[in-house]
Amino acid sequence: MTHAIGLYEAMQTTRAVRRLRPDPIPEAVLQRVLTAATWAPSGGNRQPWRVIVVRDAALKRALRDLYQRPWAPYAARQRAQFATLPAASRARGERALAAADHLAAHLHEAPVIAVFCFDPERLAITDAHLPRPSIVGGASVYPAVQNLLLACRAEGLGGVLTTMLCAAEPAIRTLLDIPEPWATAAFVPIGYPVGGGHGPLARKPVAAMAFAERWGAPLAAGDGARDDCGAA
Ligand SMILES: Cc1cc2nc3c(=O)[nH]c(=O)nc-3n(C[C@H](O)[C@H](O)[C@H](O)COP(=O)(O)O)c2cc1C
Repeated sequence: MTHAIGLYEAMQTTRAVRRLRPDPIPEAVLQRVLTAATWAPSGGNRQPWRVIVVRDAALKRALRDLYQRPWAPYAARQRAQFATLPAASRARGERALAAADHLAAHLHEAPVIAVFCFDPERLAITDAHLPRPSIVGGASVYPAVQNLLLACRAEGLGGVLTTMLCAAEPAIRTLLDIPEPWATAAFVPIGYPVGGGHGPLARKPVAAMAFAERWGAPLAAGDGARDDCGAA
């Protein structure tokens, strides 16, 4: 059932939900959250993405196995970095990493893994010639993922955008019959949360993120450019 939740409340509380119950998602609910994804904007309105809804147990288990390979060394690197952080940030990071460890072990238990694919030949990419990693193409894909996640929030579902599996794209292409030139952008496990799921976010304040007129200039009187990360 859709929960009456305001847009701002949804944005303020939609967080990475990695502990998911295996209970199936009703077909009508799935249709609604996928429809929300299709409402996202894209360059030239080309909608150069597709999503594969993976529910098959064997396929989900294969995705879990592929996920675990890069996850262990990634988590070890993250834990080493945490050692240098202040206690509160370290504790927050450790909590998130414990949830991410859980996801890596239980990915296949999510009732749905939504695999977002994109067509690199149909992306509107205006920064490909610059001497830095191109980012614009992703903007024709990831708004759809965020729409999906916000719709999940409204439906009482949880999920998380993951990209760990993009590194295993050749194996996933074979596993899911993804044709060339389509490629993978995100893997989103979705399900009903274990416990509360969503809740307050830890994000930097607007004063640290937004400038007035030129880079670094405070937006509001009294704002210094800050870079702290306060919990909402
Ligand atoms: C581009 C991107 C890639 C991500 N990849 C992963 C991933 O592979 N595995 C994972 O557990 N979480 C992944 N996340 C989730 C982030 O870790 C999470 O959104 C972030 O820590 C904020 O969490 P919060 O909303 O609960 O505060 C990814 C998020 C984004 C936006």
